[in-house]
Amino acid sequence: MLHFFHEAIRSIRTTGSVLPSSPALASAMTRAIRAQDGCKRVLEVGPGTGPFTVAVLPALRSGDVFDIVELNPTFCAHLEEKHLRAFRADHPAITVRLHESAIEDSALDGGYDFIVCGLPFNNFPLTLTESIFKQMLDLLRTGGVLTFFEYLGAREVKRPFVGRTHRLAIDGLKSFHRNTARMHSVRRELIMANIPPACAVHITKSGSDARKESGCSASTTTT
Ligand SMILES: C[S@@+](CC[C@H](N)C(=O)[O-])C[C@H]1O[C@@H](n2cnc3c(N)ncnc32)[C@H](O)[C@@H]1O
Repeated sequence: MLHFFHEAIRSIRTTGSVLPSSPALASAMTRAIRAQDGCKRVLEVGPGTGPFTVAVLPALRSGDVFDIVELNPTFCAHLEEKHLRAFRADHPAITVRLHESAIEDSALDGGYDFIVCGLPFNNFPLTLTESIFKQMLDLLRTGGVLTFFEYLGAREVKRPFVGRTHRLAIDGLKSFHRNTARMHSVRRELIMANIPPACAVHITKSGSDARKESGCSASTTTT
C-alpha cells in the first residue's frame, strides 16, 4: 500500500488515486473471469501494484493467455518481482506477458475474452478516453466482457470546481458512456467496500465477428 501511495504522489495524473483498489472491488472486477472454466485470453490495463492481477492469476488454467499493460516502470518491476515471476515458474503452460507501455502505444493481437481496466479516465482528456475505449472494444471478441471502474459521484463532485475544458470533458464522458450503453450491454455494480466507494462497469460487446467462440489460441508459450 505504501508503495502505491508513493508512486501516486509522484505521478497523480496517470495513477488517479492514492490507494489501491480493495479486495471487494477486485473481486467484482474479475468475477466473470473466475466464472469461465474454459480456455481464455485476458487483458489487464493499468494494474498498478496488482490488486486485480492477483485476483485474475488463480483463475487461469493451462493454455490461457494473460497480457498486462502498465506504463509505470516502478509498478512493472513490483508486479514482476512480487507476483508474476513466481507464477510463471509454477505454471509453465500459462502465458503471462507484462508489457511496459501505455495501452495506446501497445501492439496486441486482440481476440480477448475479458479486459479488466484500472485506468483513471477522469484524469484523461476526452479524446484519449474515447480512443482507449475504442481500442479496448476492438481488442475484445464479440460476447467478451470489458470491465472498468469509476469512483462513485467523482464526476459530479469535481464538476463545479474545474475549468470549462475539464467540464466539457466530464460532460463528454457522460454522453460517451450513454452511447456505449446503446451499442453494447452494460451492467453497473456498486461496491461500497472501497475507498472511495466505486462502481464496477461491465460492458458485454455486441455485434458479430468470426471469433465469436473464444479468442483463445493454441499458444502455450511462456514469456
Ligand atoms: C487508478 S490506478 C489503478 C491501479 C490498480 N488497478 C488499482 O485498482 O488499484 C491506474 C493505473 O493505470 C496506469 N496507467 C495510467 N495510464 C495508463 C496508460 N495509458 N496505459 C497503461 N497504464 C496506464 C497507472 O500507472 C496506474 O498504475
